[in-house]
Amino acid sequence: MPDAIAYISRDTDGVLWKKTLEAALGPLDFRTLDALGDKADIEVALAWKPPAGLIASFPNVKMIVSLGMGVDHLLADDKLPAGVPITRIMDDGLVGQMSEYAIYWALRHHRDIDKYAASQRAKQWKVEDFIDTIHRRIGILGLGTIGQDTAKKIAALGFPTAGWSRTQKTLPGIETFHGPDGLGRLLARSDILVNVLPLTRDTKGLLDARLFAVLPKGAYLINMARGGHVVDEALLAALDSGHLSGAALDVFNTEPLPPEHRYWTHPKVQVTPHIAGATNPRTASPGVIENIKNLRAGKPLINTVDAKSGY
Ligand code: OXD
Repeated sequence: MPDAIAYISRDTDGVLWKKTLEAALGPLDFRTLDALGDKADIEVALAWKPPAGLIASFPNVKMIVSLGMGVDHLLADDKLPAGVPITRIMDDGLVGQMSEYAIYWALRHHRDIDKYAASQRAKQWKVEDFIDTIHRRIGILGLGTIGQDTAKKIAALGFPTAGWSRTQKTLPGIETFHGPDGLGRLLARSDILVNVLPLTRDTKGLLDARLFAVLPKGAYLINMARGGHVVDEALLAALDSGHLSGAALDVFNTEPLPPEHRYWTHPKVQVTPHIAGATNPRTASPGVIENIKNLRAGKPLINTVDAKSGY
């Protein structure tokens, strides 16, 4: 019976995952990308940005696990073996980090911290006009686990908070919009827009010139989803024209962000290197452990991904 676990990631070495899984499941045949051995032994593939076609070369693989909450990195492989269930991690730790990222940049923008830092450099005692919290409207694109947590925490700070999702969702204390018509309404009332959408065929390039034009003048963008959502030239044009007042960007069309990219030096852009939420095996492993047990016991899997909708 194939029972090996393949850890496929070039970003992390898997040592902590092996330790965490073995603490719950006992000794495992745990193999990393550089030592996969006989691929016929592999039962489970834990994957982050797997090389295209690799998972298809495991003839007995029974479950694919995305090591990110986003699964676009996995679905980009058009040779994924048909019929093999895809699941993803659900990581409370990562969810909390993502919300913190959004709250940090929202508050920093809301309280004019960058303007005060510039005044300090110029030794200027200058008080900026203040916008009341109850008049700073925040919109969240995407109301999955991360979007809901972010919306809830932002609303608790007193900001009028709304969210948009593809299909209708209801959340206490949050104004919700859905579908193509709802998108324009959400945008028109978002002084700060937070993007946490999954990257799918439908959302690729969604943040384009038309979308930015619908945001109120002076709006601020926080993108902690995927770089592929953003048309970079459109964002730069909206910032340069003054229509947008700034952007905090954690994710990019090309990662690492190339040294010559204008984002690095743009005075209205804050760049972070895809750190908004990092997977931590301690918080991400319980669902994976449960699924390995479920798989081996022939029980239904949790946290499954619908490859068609892309999330
Ligand atoms: C994820 C990520 O998808 O870290 O989890 O980007």
